[in-house]
Amino acid sequence: MTALLDIHLTDADADVALRADALAGLTAQPKNLPPKWFYDARGSALFEQITQLPEYFPTRTERALLEHAADAIAITSGADTIVELGSGSSAKTRLLLDAFGRAESLRRYVPQDVSEPALREAMSALQADYPGLELHGVVGDFTAHLDRLPPEGHRMVAFLGGTIGNLLPPERAEFLRALRAALRPGEQFLLGTGLVVDPSLLVPAYDDAAGVTAEFNRNVLHVLNRELDADFDVDAFHHKAVWAAENEWIEMRLVAQRAMTVTLAGLDLTVEFAAGEEMCTEVSAKFRLPGIGAMLGEAGFSVVGSWTDPDERMALTLATAV
Ligand code: AVJ
Repeated sequence: MTALLDIHLTDADADVALRADALAGLTAQPKNLPPKWFYDARGSALFEQITQLPEYFPTRTERALLEHAADAIAITSGADTIVELGSGSSAKTRLLLDAFGRAESLRRYVPQDVSEPALREAMSALQADYPGLELHGVVGDFTAHLDRLPPEGHRMVAFLGGTIGNLLPPERAEFLRALRAALRPGEQFLLGTGLVVDPSLLVPAYDDAAGVTAEFNRNVLHVLNRELDADFDVDAFHHKAVWAAENEWIEMRLVAQRAMTVTLAGLDLTVEFAAGEEMCTEVSAKFRLPGIGAMLGEAGFSVVGSWTDPDERMALTLATAV
């Protein structure tokens, strides 16, 4: 079957965006770096490792939920095109592809990811395993290129893994508005969210005993060292995960173990870190079911189905563009 690949994000675009984010984040008070810069090849591999950790329950919980709910989602949706934002390895999506195949509606899969190598790899595996499926990959950023999604078919846009929680509230509202604007009335959105659970369960999920999440967190400094010719002493930053109860989100931080002067030659920038200074590198917001419905409603979606695991740790919500 035909396979197409659109490229909306080149290495040069990514470089411009990284520079802008690093300059803004490292000169802000408190300092911060956006989580999307974790995901170079090493960071993506570390994330795949995180999903296997005993403490990190979201991936396996969402997978079990999809196993349970995929047929109902397919029947309720009736879409012939599944678009997936941040598709990565497309591993969990196969459950949806299989269910939509059983419902005999599936024609086309449109995976979108920022990583061209990850997308190419996922697409060639899918081409082998789903010979009748039309594949239309999009290299793009889900916060920037929603207006360029392929328009063909009756689409269901899947955004899984709780990744919406990595957007700050204003970014999240803008993302949902742009997504709604990209869809026609009657098309659908399938959202996977992490739910608010006990911090004693949540904090270890983001601070595992083996230290994989710590390596993942510090990886953003390796990315800056390589891409912006910086000299971060990566091991002088410790990983910290905190539950911010007032915002109902996990915050990952990097903590400077001593005072440091860091030079980013590629940005012509020097930044000072005080001993003990904390820099936020990721917010991972958790949700409550009424809040999910309200957030989708405000953006012009109407909820048509909702599924949670028995422990109510993750939710899948199917909504229609009104
Ligand atoms: C990629 C959004 C699913 O926020 O849980 C995992 C990323 N960060 N461990 C999350 C992540 C630390 C993850 N998602």
